[in-house]
Amino acid sequence: MTTNIPGYTYGSAEVARSPLSMDDFANLKQATLFGDEDVRYLKMSHDILKDQVEQILDVWYGFVGSTPFLLHYFTNKSDNQPNTDYLGAVRKRFGQWILDTANANYDQDWLNYQYEIGLRHHTTKKNKTDGVDAQPIIHLRYVLALQVPITTTLRPFLEKGGHSSEDVDKMQDAWRKSVLMQVILWSQPYIHEGQF
Ligand code: HEM
Repeated sequence: MTTNIPGYTYGSAEVARSPLSMDDFANLKQATLFGDEDVRYLKMSHDILKDQVEQILDVWYGFVGSTPFLLHYFTNKSDNQPNTDYLGAVRKRFGQWILDTANANYDQDWLNYQYEIGLRHHTTKKNKTDGVDAQPIIHLRYVLALQVPITTTLRPFLEKGGHSSEDVDKMQDAWRKSVLMQVILWSQPYIHEGQF
């Protein structure tokens, strides 16, 4: 994946190898009933969402920005003020994530980057990519919870493609499963060794 987005290192040599193997990931797909049909519907969503990324981010950032206990994680440790440079830098990578999720290309680079995203929410790597001195960790409970607003608010954007409501349901289901699998993978750094 080649982009000019600062700090977006998907596919680069600096990303550590995921502690989970591709076989482990295959089991996770099976456990979440994620199959080839979901891949097909995610890819269908790509064409619909690719021109709406900024509007989607406006909705998601609107939610975080208007929810003080979430905005907290983007505030500076020193003065508790939102760090606008940090918000802006993460927003670019978040936009790319929408496209990556819809691309549904599950290779070793993808799996490695899931581990990286987990580390970036956890103390291990939070703030390091953007060189900021913000709050040191995003508590796991909110990472898990945000699946709901993210996949719920996506629906009006999926509907804009003019597909049948059955197709829209299936695209949304595929998104729900994909985001669930991703937050499961991101939770690994938060869990004691041997318990994940
Ligand atoms: C980073 C998605 C939950 C705050 C990111 C990135 C993505 C993302 C794609 C950028 C990854 C990269 O660097 O390439 C999500 C999704 C979530 C979620 C899909 C839940 C389903 C949360 C929550 C918060 C949050 C609950 C709390 C406000 C942040 C922050 C960063 C970040 C502060 C930057 C971390 C760093 O310093 O590198 N998130 N996120 N995220 N997210 Fe989340």
